[in-house]
Amino acid sequence: MSQRRFAQAMNKTRLAVICDSMRKEDLPNVLVIESLSFAEPWTEEMFLHELDSARIAESLVARVDEGVGEQIVGFLCAWIVSGELHINNLAVHPGYRSRAVASQLLDAILIRAYAKSVTVGFLEVRASNEAAAALYKAYGFEPIGRRRNYYEHPREDAIVMRRQPL
Ligand SMILES: CC(C)(COP(=O)(O)OP(=O)(O)OC[C@H]1O[C@@H](n2cnc3c(N)ncnc32)[C@H](O)[C@@H]1OP(=O)(O)O)[C@@H](O)C(=O)NCCC(=O)NCCS
Repeated sequence: MSQRRFAQAMNKTRLAVICDSMRKEDLPNVLVIESLSFAEPWTEEMFLHELDSARIAESLVARVDEGVGEQIVGFLCAWIVSGELHINNLAVHPGYRSRAVASQLLDAILIRAYAKSVTVGFLEVRASNEAAAALYKAYGFEPIGRRRNYYEHPREDAIVMRRQPL
């Protein structure tokens, strides 16, 4: 990243992004963000499976154009099934965090869920992931349970969170 881009990224004001559907050609950028964000990153095959499951899967990317061409700065993968929203993956490029990118992705998925008359939302988060837990709490998700040793590398419990009504 150039010094100018780094300085921009360090500007902690809200970054206006466009949230729209993930496409196959977005995957190289999505995979970079994924690997920078998780100890056990999803593989390309896992994202392709989401894109091939269009009946239930809603995969979004956050795009930004800061004058040097469009760039993907975050993504969200969810399922909308049986009247339920399940958020399965969410990450923002480390250089663009704390600028409301995840918030805008959550806003976008909630709008899609409302359009499909969804009434409840679920997700799992690592017990130690304070940033994500704070984000989800700010969005009205509440802890409702714990799955023991749900994650590996490091092994850790998952906190199950629910937002109801959505
Ligand atoms: C969690 C994550 C998606 C947040 O993305 P983001 O774009 O930085 O989040 P936002 O700027 O929209 O933050 C919205 C709110 O979330 C909370 N939040 C976000 N980052 C936080 C942090 N580091 N510490 C505490 N609260 C945080 C705050 O309540 C924040 O509101 P505020 O800015 O008014 O204080 C991002 O840190 C990330 O990609 N982390 C690695 C991957 C990950 O953990 N994904 C979630 C898996 S369940």
